Amino acid sequence: MKKIKDHYFHKARKNGYAARSAYKLEEIDKKYRIIRKGNAVLDLGCSPGSWLQYVSKKVGESGHVLGVDLQPVNISLPPHVKVIQADIFELTVNDLQIEGGLADVILSDMAPKTSGIQTADAQRSYMLNKKVLDLADDLLSQQGTLLVKAFQGKPLDELRSDFREMFDQVKLCKPKSSRSESVEIFILGTGRK
Ligand SMILES: C[S@@+](CC[C@H](N)C(=O)[O-])C[C@H]1O[C@@H](n2cnc3c(N)ncnc32)[C@H](O)[C@@H]1O
Repeated sequence: MKKIKDHYFHKARKNGYAARSAYKLEEIDKKYRIIRKGNAVLDLGCSPGSWLQYVSKKVGESGHVLGVDLQPVNISLPPHVKVIQADIFELTVNDLQIEGGLADVILSDMAPKTSGIQTADAQRSYMLNKKVLDLADDLLSQQGTLLVKAFQGKPLDELRSDFREMFDQVKLCKPKSSRSESVEIFILGTGRK
């Protein structure tokens, strides 16, 4: 993937974040206050690890964070953060329980390998997010929060209606730190029914 060396890239480097993506989560979290001290958080698609860095600070030592990615995470993280290197399609609900329990917050910044064909990429992203919703069904606590990255395009409407079935409130978020030319957009569901 081409690295964009913009303001957020330099800010991330200066502040010791593994990627500029940390600022997308920070912006959404500042606006909607989704991550709190003591929370159990599952971070799907967590490599290189900037969301893990942000979340681990927010939940503090009384919280727990579990990250999953196909790729390794090669940064140093505090003991309340665990990482599994695996494909989410190959993991069971048991593998993803945090300290044997449910998650207060599930995050997914996962993106499929893109082909450049917008409709095909949006469909692949939708399939990833359907899997995330299935996992959330088993792993997310009542009143819990789910944030996923999606691609703008036709399947986004379907994803929104899937979210509306599961959550009291559903919002679309396009953080300033997400490049305006990028098709990515985040869907936030709060208040799991
Ligand atoms: C944009 S990156 C995540 C960046 C991360 N949030 C951070 O702040 O460092 C997307 C990640 O999703 C992962 N991913 C994509 N499909 C996956 C799958 N099926 N299972 C696990 N991880 C996956 C990719 O390996 C990639 O590292």
